[in-house]
Amino acid sequence: MRALVSHPPTGGAELREVATPPLPPGGVRVRVAEVGVCGTDQEIVAGRYGRVPDGADHLVLGHENLGTVVERAAGVQELTPGDLVVATVRRGCGACRFCAANRSDFCETGRYTERGIWRADGYLAEEYVETPAYLVKVPPSIRGTAVLVEPLSVVEKATEQGFGVLARMNAPSAAPAASPPAALVAGTGAIGMLASLVLRVRGWRVTAIDRHPSGTPAAGVLGAIGARHVDASAGSQALGSDRFELIVEATGSANLDVSLLDLLGPNGTLVLTGIPDPSAAPSVAMGARLRGLVLENQAVVGSVNANRTHFAAAVADLGRFEALWPGVTSRLIGERRPWEEFGDVFARRTPGLVKSVLVVGAAGDPPSLR
Ligand code: BGC
Repeated sequence: MRALVSHPPTGGAELREVATPPLPPGGVRVRVAEVGVCGTDQEIVAGRYGRVPDGADHLVLGHENLGTVVERAAGVQELTPGDLVVATVRRGCGACRFCAANRSDFCETGRYTERGIWRADGYLAEEYVETPAYLVKVPPSIRGTAVLVEPLSVVEKATEQGFGVLARMNAPSAAPAASPPAALVAGTGAIGMLASLVLRVRGWRVTAIDRHPSGTPAAGVLGAIGARHVDASAGSQALGSDRFELIVEATGSANLDVSLLDLLGPNGTLVLTGIPDPSAAPSVAMGARLRGLVLENQAVVGSVNANRTHFAAAVADLGRFEALWPGVTSRLIGERRPWEEFGDVFARRTPGLVKSVLVVGAAGDPPSLR
């Protein structure tokens, strides 16, 4: 079968023939329909991230996946050929208590694998095999946006972390209904946009900042869901004196991570999801910000990956988004390109284009995916 492979730590990407994996006992075979491309994939192709499976010379790319079950091993009950599925990304280390409890997103040893990223082949192939424990069924009603389930799962975990930290204060529930809590989302890529949707659907007032003037697809979607878009290219002054109870960061800029503390309200929580360059040396002053963090009971929490419960939450939320804002979520998918055009998709970044999707599925898949 064909697969899109990279060669970390060198990087690069090439479409080539690889062995079709045999169906394991208790497993299913999935024909891949489409795969989203994210910053992590760009990093792997650029030679800055990723690791090949032990003993292999290449890594099959792709972790934001959607496909159809085409075959199942004897005894598999949970899934049937024809089912639409999304596979989770991380597989546990087999040694720590979190992995033992199916919560490898909190793996303590760091010896996990991640399909398409770290020591395990991904989903940019005509087919893959997997056990049902790592597959989440998707209703056909959200087929058009289901390739966003994986990045949305990351947002589900990150916001759950933020809500959990805020809950530590056991705040009196006397807040007037007319003033819902205010959240800031930093970055309007897929993670930032999906965070805006998740927060809006939970009743938050949302402001999202990026460095683009209005008129981008992202700004259009923010308007459609009742969120405010602010172009912060000239700095955060554009926000006036606003401070926020919850900030979700989705840029990976170390400088911005630190600066966002200026925008955090008393008792507020800053959730970081972007993965900064390890050599970044923030040039912004830390002292006053750390002092403020202490004096105002603030918290900063990092969040990575997601477990199966977050994938299930993502599936449910995509249905909610569609019911509330019909047709809006699909506007986050800026382009669907045949996977043969991967070179073009990896090579460029179009400002305001939220998500590029590579279409793998053979002719015969519904036209809505093309
Ligand atoms: C993926 C996560 C993964 C992280 C770090 C992200 O792009 O969505 O599943 O844990 O990269 O490798």
